[in-house]
Amino acid sequence: MKNIVVLVSGGGTNLQALIDAEKRGEIKGGKITCVISSKPDVYALERAEQNGISTRVIPRKEYSDVSSYTKAVTEALLDEKADLVVYAGFMTILDEQVVKAFPYKMMNVHPALIPSFCGKGFYGLHVHEAVLDSGVKLTGATVHFVTEVCDGGPIILQGAVPVMNGDTPEILQKRVMEQAEWKLLPKAVSLFCEDRITIKDGKAYVD
Ligand code: GAR
Repeated sequence: MKNIVVLVSGGGTNLQALIDAEKRGEIKGGKITCVISSKPDVYALERAEQNGISTRVIPRKEYSDVSSYTKAVTEALLDEKADLVVYAGFMTILDEQVVKAFPYKMMNVHPALIPSFCGKGFYGLHVHEAVLDSGVKLTGATVHFVTEVCDGGPIILQGAVPVMNGDTPEILQKRVMEQAEWKLLPKAVSLFCEDRITIKDGKAYVD
């Protein structure tokens, strides 16, 4: 069984999708063993506690820079013996220290079709605002490995979601979550735990 550690910063609906998938037996070969939050008092922590999953809070605000924060998170992940680290609405950028400790063992869900609408500053509702401003008719979600490049690691799974007339960022966010994120993230996690993802020439392939 692989130990899955989930990193969160907010409401935790993607964490909930993972918990629900695990309960249905859909995470083959893995178990969520710990949830780590960059903020105290977020609802994601309550979701973990309600499901008997241990939690840690490592507040970003208590660290003066990215390097010292990354060191603290990396130490916690090593201490938890994480086999897979999942960024599920984790709104804090970590540096290369954690990538070196967990190469191709960390995945992130991003609420758009990478390489569009991604990178620094594109997170949460800002992504959907940018999508609506641009006038594109299709958006979606991407699950990818985390590397040193923000939102630039090998893509594991993507799903497309239509943009509709009259969408607000909130309405679009909900559609992207329901139709893409909450399905793709548990699927990608299960594929990883079944050792069905390989990396070749910097790209991810699912067998
Ligand atoms: C999700 O839409 C996730 O894709 C996004 O934040 C939301 C978190 O919701 N993540 C990013 O934008 C990271 N760049 P949740 O806390 O309910 O899972």
